[in-house]
Amino acid sequence: MTVTSVNPAHPSEVIGTFEEATARDVDAAVRRAAAAQREWARVPVPARAERIAAVGAELERRKGELASLVAREAGKVLIEAGGDVQEAIDMAAFVAGQGRAAWGTVHPSELGDKLAFTTRQPVGVVGMITPWNFPIAIPSWKCFPALLAGNGMVLKPSEHAPACAAAFVEACIAGGIPGDLIQVVHGFAEPAQALTVHPGVRAVSFTGSVTTGRRVAAAAMETGPRLVSLELGGKNAMVVLEDADLELAVDGALFGAFGTAGQRCTSTSRLIAHPAVVDELVERITARAAALRLGDPTDPTTDVGPVITRESGERIASISGAPLRDIDGGTYVEPTVVRVDRDDRRACEELFGPVLSVLVAADVHDAVELVNSAEYGLSAAVYTRDINRALRAVAEIDTGIVYVNAPTIGAEIHLPFGGTKHTGNGYREAGTRGLEQFSETKTVYIDYSGRLQRAQIDNRSPVSGS
Ligand code: UN1
Repeated sequence: MTVTSVNPAHPSEVIGTFEEATARDVDAAVRRAAAAQREWARVPVPARAERIAAVGAELERRKGELASLVAREAGKVLIEAGGDVQEAIDMAAFVAGQGRAAWGTVHPSELGDKLAFTTRQPVGVVGMITPWNFPIAIPSWKCFPALLAGNGMVLKPSEHAPACAAAFVEACIAGGIPGDLIQVVHGFAEPAQALTVHPGVRAVSFTGSVTTGRRVAAAAMETGPRLVSLELGGKNAMVVLEDADLELAVDGALFGAFGTAGQRCTSTSRLIAHPAVVDELVERITARAAALRLGDPTDPTTDVGPVITRESGERIASISGAPLRDIDGGTYVEPTVVRVDRDDRRACEELFGPVLSVLVAADVHDAVELVNSAEYGLSAAVYTRDINRALRAVAEIDTGIVYVNAPTIGAEIHLPFGGTKHTGNGYREAGTRGLEQFSETKTVYIDYSGRLQRAQIDNRSPVSGS
């Protein structure tokens, strides 16, 4: 079987054709990565960091070319495609800096002449399964920290963006990452499954849907145990209170809900507004949405590109009622604002398209309750001019990321990224926590007293009666 990716704006244009990896190919890839990893683990961490910095420079050099590939293969408008590549460049700079930062912590011992500290060790080979919607950024979130931690990796990118993954890996190798260390296997479920259960894979890092994530985690643990990190869906809400700057909220809703054609896991898919402002907001957002230009993402005047496949567009339309458009064979969902009841599917399910479901909340408490009623907990936004209410909402909202007076999208790479509830399983990507899923903590005790010292026993009063 072959994996053929096409331009979603012109589905007859083939972007890349790749051989689908069989379970045997996956096995060979894991073995090559494992052999290379043994060498790489001996490279001092700052030297690993220098290679990652060189990859960053390589990505910078190739930014235009990569952004154009992202636009053509993933259908992202050019400025957003550039942002995708920039996110990887930023991640390289951040992770490279971590190569000279603290690698653990030093602690006092309860016993004399004894030293206690933590350090990190690589996990070995990491299996990575990545989505198409950030086809450069998300592989970078996983690969750079994994490389810094001393691992080998096998990447199984989405079948919708294999050429972007191949180009990313090419840049890594051009920047000096040993070729065998970073393996790519293309395809659908078979290589993903084979990678997930491979005995040589110690950690699996997955970004995608809840349904697939659950399957990946179950399979990985059945043949595990393993470190399994999941970054799954969202049903992100923007709360607009009655004192908010409405102009700002409208700008935020437009970018949050319709940017990337609503196909970010952080996209704003619910607007929760106070009754005093809801009508005006709906009116203004609807009017601005109608003026957005749909079309080829490589055309700089385009605001909203196609959805990734016709099938995806049909699913979004059938649930939301949003109109579909066919432009040159590409499937577009018209940016849509719909008022819904609280129990409506559109208020609960992740749609992954440019649809904003509007709900009304009586006050900040009601709004927070609604935000928290979703089964996901990735990102949320609160618009208000009242610092007290803003901070109360920040404290009570149950999501991994909260914005005040800014939309639900646009996380920066040096802060932790991830969510609560069905969004994930507790790991965070990016920031200093990004290393955790790719390294094991090792606790080291060094006793230089020259005698046996017993923790919890010596230097303590004996148990009475003994
Ligand atoms: C995603 O949609 O999977 O915060 C990632 C953001 C981007 C990353 C989104 N920096 O919107």
